[in-house]
Amino acid sequence: MASAARPFTRGALRLAPANFRATATRNARFAVPRQTFPRQSRRGYADNAAPKSGSSGLLWGIGLAALGGGGFYYYSQNPDLFSGKEVKPKGPFTPKFEDYQQVYNTVAKALEEHDEYDDGSYGPVLLRLAWHASGTYDKETGTGGSNGATMRFTPEGDHGANAGLKAARDFLDPIKEKFPWISYSDLWILSGICAIQEMQGPHIPFRPGRTDRDVSFCTPDGRLPDASQEQKHLRTIFGRMGFNDQEIVALSGAHALGRCHTDRSGYDGPWTFSPTTLTNDYYKLLIEEKWAWKKWSGPKQFEDVTTKSLMMLPTDMVLIKDKSFRQYVEKYAKDNDAFFKDFADVVTRLFELGVPFTTGEDARWTFKSSFDEA
Ligand code: HEM
Repeated sequence: MASAARPFTRGALRLAPANFRATATRNARFAVPRQTFPRQSRRGYADNAAPKSGSSGLLWGIGLAALGGGGFYYYSQNPDLFSGKEVKPKGPFTPKFEDYQQVYNTVAKALEEHDEYDDGSYGPVLLRLAWHASGTYDKETGTGGSNGATMRFTPEGDHGANAGLKAARDFLDPIKEKFPWISYSDLWILSGICAIQEMQGPHIPFRPGRTDRDVSFCTPDGRLPDASQEQKHLRTIFGRMGFNDQEIVALSGAHALGRCHTDRSGYDGPWTFSPTTLTNDYYKLLIEEKWAWKKWSGPKQFEDVTTKSLMMLPTDMVLIKDKSFRQYVEKYAKDNDAFFKDFADVVTRLFELGVPFTTGEDARWTFKSSFDEA
C-alpha cells in the first residue's frame, strides 16, 4: 500500500497524540484495469499441409490464389487508394487525455507496488522532484521552471538542494521507457500530481506541453530555498517565482508529507505522524505543539517536546514567528478545505512556471485518482 493504509513503519504513529493520528482511513485501491492480452490466434502450421506430390497445376492454382488473396488484403487495408479520395499520410502520434491518464495509472500502480521505500511510499519524493524542477523559475529572466527537466544533467542534479532526488528519477525511468512519447518534464510534473492525489490530496489540473532541454539550460545553484534561513530569504526566493506570503504558506503545507534524511539535506525526521497522507496537520502541529531546538550534532532544527519524534526546519518555524505568514497558518490549521483549495491553486501555478504552452488554461485536464468513483 502506498498510502495511509500502511502502518507508519518508524513507530511515530504509535506515539501520536489522538488528535494527530492519521485522519484518513480510505484504503488505496487502484482502479487500474488489468490489461488482458488475448492470446493471439495460433497459426496452424500442420506438417501435412504441404503438398506431397509435385503437381504443377496445383502449384499454379495455389500461386494465383495467393496473389488474389494478397490483392484483396491490400485493397481492404487501403480502400481510399481505390476510391479516388485524396490520401493523407498518417501524422505522428498525438497523445490524448486517455494516454496521459494511462501514464497516471501506471505511476499510481508503481507507487502502490513499491511500498518498501521510506515510510511506505515514493509519493513524497516524487512531489519534491516536481517542486524542485519548477522552483528554479525566475520571473525576471524567464529562466528555469518545469520546462526542460534539466536536473537530469550533472551541474543541476548535483546541486545540494537536489540531493536524494535521483531516487525519484530512477523510480520513473521504467515508466518513461514504457511511454517514450512523454517528455521527462511532463512526466515529472504528472507524477508530482499523481503523488498528491494518491496521497489523498486535492485534484491538481494538468496540461501537457513541456519539452526536454539540453544541459545548457541548467539553472545556477542557489535558486531553491535554504532551510536554515529566515523570512527575508523565503520572500526573496518565492518572490522571484512570483509568489506572495499566502502562497508561500499554502505551498509549505506539502511538508505534511515525507521526511528529512541525514544523508540528503542533513536534517532528520518527518513533520507529521502521517507522512504519506496529505492533511493540514503540518499547520495544526506548528500551532498546537511545543517546539524546541533539537540537541544533536546535526544542523539546527526543531523537535516536538511531547514525543521528540517530529521535526520542523528553521524556515518552517518562521511561518509562525512572522505575523503576516502566521495568519495563514492559523487559517489552514482550522480549515482543511481552505488549505486544499489554496494548495491546489498554487501548486497548479508552480508546476506551470516557465512553460511556453500553446494551449490556454481551459485546456487543463483533471486525472482520475484511485479514490475517485468509477
Ligand atoms: C519553504 C521552503 C522550503 C524549504 C526550505 C524546504 C526544505 C526541505 C528539506 C530540507 C527537505 C528534506 C530533504 C531530505 O533530506 O530528504 C524537504 C523535503 C520535502 N519537501 Fe521541502 N522545502 C520547502 C518548500 C517545499 C515546497 C514548496 C514543497 C512542495 C510544494 C516541498 C515539498 C517537500 C516534500 C514532499 C519533502 C519530503 C521529501 C521526502 O520525503 O523525500 N517543500 N524540504
